[in-house]
Amino acid sequence: MCGIVGYIGTQAATGILLAGLEKLEYRGYDSAGIATVWEGEIHRVRAKGKLRNLQSKLNGQEIPGLVGIGHTRWATHGKPEEHNAHPHLDTSKRVAVVQNGIIENYRELREELKQLNYEFVTETDTEVIPNLVAECLNQMRQSGETEKFYSPLTEAVRRVVNRLEGAFAIVLLCADYPDEIVVARQQAPLVLGFGQGEFFCASDIPAILPYTHAIVPLENGEMATLTPLGIEIYNFAGDRLKKHPHLLSGTAVTMEKQGFRHFMLKEIYEQSSVVRMVLETYISNDWTAASTTSPINLSLPAEFYTDLEQVQIVACGTSWHASLVGKYLLEQLAQIPTQVHYASEFRYAPPPLMPNTLIVGVTQSGETADTLSAIAMDKQRRAEKTPQFRPRLLGITNRMQSSLARLVDYTIDIQAGIEIGVAATKTFIAQLVAFYCLALDLAYRRQTLSATQLEQIIGQLWQLPAQIESILEQQERQIEELAHEFTETQDFIFIGRGINYPIALEGALKLKEISYIHAEGYPAGEMKHGPIALLDAKVPVVAIAMPGSVYEKVLSNVQEAKARDSRLIGVAPMHDEHAKEIFDDTLPVPVVDEILSPILSVIPLQLLAYHIAARRGLDVDQPRNLAKSVTVE
Ligand code: F6R
Repeated sequence: MCGIVGYIGTQAATGILLAGLEKLEYRGYDSAGIATVWEGEIHRVRAKGKLRNLQSKLNGQEIPGLVGIGHTRWATHGKPEEHNAHPHLDTSKRVAVVQNGIIENYRELREELKQLNYEFVTETDTEVIPNLVAECLNQMRQSGETEKFYSPLTEAVRRVVNRLEGAFAIVLLCADYPDEIVVARQQAPLVLGFGQGEFFCASDIPAILPYTHAIVPLENGEMATLTPLGIEIYNFAGDRLKKHPHLLSGTAVTMEKQGFRHFMLKEIYEQSSVVRMVLETYISNDWTAASTTSPINLSLPAEFYTDLEQVQIVACGTSWHASLVGKYLLEQLAQIPTQVHYASEFRYAPPPLMPNTLIVGVTQSGETADTLSAIAMDKQRRAEKTPQFRPRLLGITNRMQSSLARLVDYTIDIQAGIEIGVAATKTFIAQLVAFYCLALDLAYRRQTLSATQLEQIIGQLWQLPAQIESILEQQERQIEELAHEFTETQDFIFIGRGINYPIALEGALKLKEISYIHAEGYPAGEMKHGPIALLDAKVPVVAIAMPGSVYEKVLSNVQEAKARDSRLIGVAPMHDEHAKEIFDDTLPVPVVDEILSPILSVIPLQLLAYHIAARRGLDVDQPRNLAKSVTVE
């Protein structure tokens, strides 16, 4: 949610800032801007809308400067207009700031600054920061205090961040200190990058990866000064901290569309290899019912499993849907009571403290503020308790360098690779596979499944990558054609039962996120208790009808919709004549055990959402009003 980047070194900053912002645009794309310091002045260019608008405004010209900051915005306070775009300047145009987050006490601070004749020209919360820093520098100069500090700018920022309430990552430069960038982090991500004679900072690693693999993620309450000579890190109390950069493994992250029209479609296609990769990492492929060790190796220590009585999961959006499937698996396979909470609700109305509870935070980005706050709150309320109430925190994430990974005790890396499309697809499926691994591991240890049952499920899991490939190969064209018929549709209903109810929710969310068509997901059996009143010939119903315990029941619910003239689209087993008779259109998937069916049933729904949105000519990868990483509560 907002991407920020900073550079100081020996190269022209503009190109590096723009390239960095390109990699961060998934975090917000309402407006973009950059600023540099050159010959004692701040130079700034901003544009409303996507980064390409800023690029065309620059028209291939660099703004001069070897030090600069940049921002791509997801609007919180103030409309997405150019005057609200970052970087923001102080009244005398000596200090420039980019910020990601929300300054909760900005109104009081603005009133205080207005009394001192500072002028405000935006509706943003951020604008108080450059003015506070300017004011602080003035006061320090007047009292002669600047002599005391190696970097007066750092000291001014330190004093200012101690006055800010809320969550923020700040990157700041000042025309009077042209060889410095000062950064600070409080509940919003910020990484530092160490190059040779050049230093970087950014909201996320991909922005600096082309230049360096040596990074230090800042923690909450930490700040740093970047100069051409190096980086110094402090806490908000001003104590110097020693931190050693660590080297990121792997080489360049692929961020190309590789011939696909959109990143989202490419990522849908990557799902078979993602599933294979997660399985290969966590499940031994030669395990049989005769083996004497667990088939799953999540590299979790013995204390993770000791006396575990229940699981509480916190997540948002698509990750919340994956967690609902996870609950089903943990309860049905491992017989462990599990609750799933919206992270944004959990924080303010947590369930009563229960002993021997595993708290699981599920977030692909690892930076979702709601999820981080919920986990941090639970950690805090358990910290002082007796041993069985102590925190036992697991993160399921795609970003092992993220804030979540640093907050929890244990992690499962879902290894989906970077996901650029704002609508989550491959990270969803990777989260599902992570839950299968966790549930099967616990089932083995708690002996809730026989060795033969485990062997059967694991055998079928290994077949999923090929089955995903077959759905993609055989169905994409058909789904694309079908999608053409729904470009004018205004409402969709998605229904499913049991383990496929969360998939109905996910199908509806994908469609509304990228096509802006109103869509709702319901448990199929609930339709008759109210939502059925919505149905008529204009409202198509997409039903997930996979063989298993609820198959016949779902088909009965579908008949109820048919009687109300709805067009019926069924995600149904391949070669199922009964389904073909009932549905107007079938999206066939290979027959698998019901417990594994979500991994396959979600694929046609992703394709349907994608093709409807693409056919409507919409910006599939960067849908309006959304951001990939939601770092405000
Ligand atoms: C859906 C989507 C959002 C995210 C949600 C949580 O396509 O992208 O609903 O799932 O914002 O994000 P993470 O998983 O990063 O916590």
